[in-house]
Amino acid sequence: MELKDKVVVVTGAGGGMGKAISEKLLTEGALVVGMDLKEASMKDRNHPQFTAMAIDILNEEAVASAFAEAHEQYGKIDGLVNAIGMAQSASSIEDVSLEFWHQLMNVNVTSLFLTSKEAAKYMKPKQQGSIITIASISAVRPRPGLQAYIASKGAAESFSRALAIELAPHGIRVNTVHPGPTDTGMLGQFAAPGADVDTAKKQIFADSVPMGRLVAPSDIAESISYLVSDRAAMVTGAVLHVDGGRGL
Ligand SMILES: NC(=O)c1ccc[n+]([C@@H]2O[C@H](COP(=O)([O-])OP(=O)(O)OC[C@H]3O[C@@H](n4cnc5c(N)ncnc54)[C@H](O)[C@@H]3O)[C@@H](O)[C@H]2O)c1
Repeated sequence: MELKDKVVVVTGAGGGMGKAISEKLLTEGALVVGMDLKEASMKDRNHPQFTAMAIDILNEEAVASAFAEAHEQYGKIDGLVNAIGMAQSASSIEDVSLEFWHQLMNVNVTSLFLTSKEAAKYMKPKQQGSIITIASISAVRPRPGLQAYIASKGAAESFSRALAIELAPHGIRVNTVHPGPTDTGMLGQFAAPGADVDTAKKQIFADSVPMGRLVAPSDIAESISYLVSDRAAMVTGAVLHVDGGRGL
């Protein structure tokens, strides 16, 4: 129960990692505010300390009201975990439209700007807080055909490091987690269009991990619970690879 009474916002709480992260934080005693486009995907967490908010994280006003509501409910916000995201199916750069590029940058980068801005606003007066962004090991170990996705994850890492130096004097820590290929619904979406996303496809991703298996959403959740906790009191600007060695 080391996160007892910490108030943590988890975006993408309806996704594979967001679900595992919010469940782990709840187990550790945190009060979790899940935000996701899909309300139905958060319905399974029927826990007294879990609040689900169905919002589009790209809507600035909706994000501001959701954070204000969470703050009003609990009187503070201790943590923010950015776990929303959008994949790219492997394609040649000539086939990537500008519209897709903008959409992906919005979901994977602009969302971080909108949520971190709100979190900083409520964390600064308390002179403490922890912001964690899920980026991707592909930012440092690219695969072909994922140029837009990888650019967005590089931006996510740089944004986190920039915020870490800006917010350190306010006692707010900002860290990045780089997952390797993780067993969630998103994994298959990285395949080339029309490719069979079955167990064999998953095996190809698993074979690319030196430790020989896909990352489990629970592996990511463990790292998040550490980074939210006071055990990580002097950890900021860090980039934690949870990838079974894929980045080596
Ligand atoms: N699965 C992988 O292999 C893998 C590897 C490395 C990094 N990542 C990153 O990890 C993070 C979590 O991914 P996941 O695997 O859990 O994916 P997922 O698709 O299971 O979950 C993503 C969630 O984000 C939500 N979302 C998307 N756009 C939104 C918006 N505008 N407003 C609100 N919610 C929105 C979706 O509804 C979904 O529930 C993402 O940033 C992803 O890029 C995933």
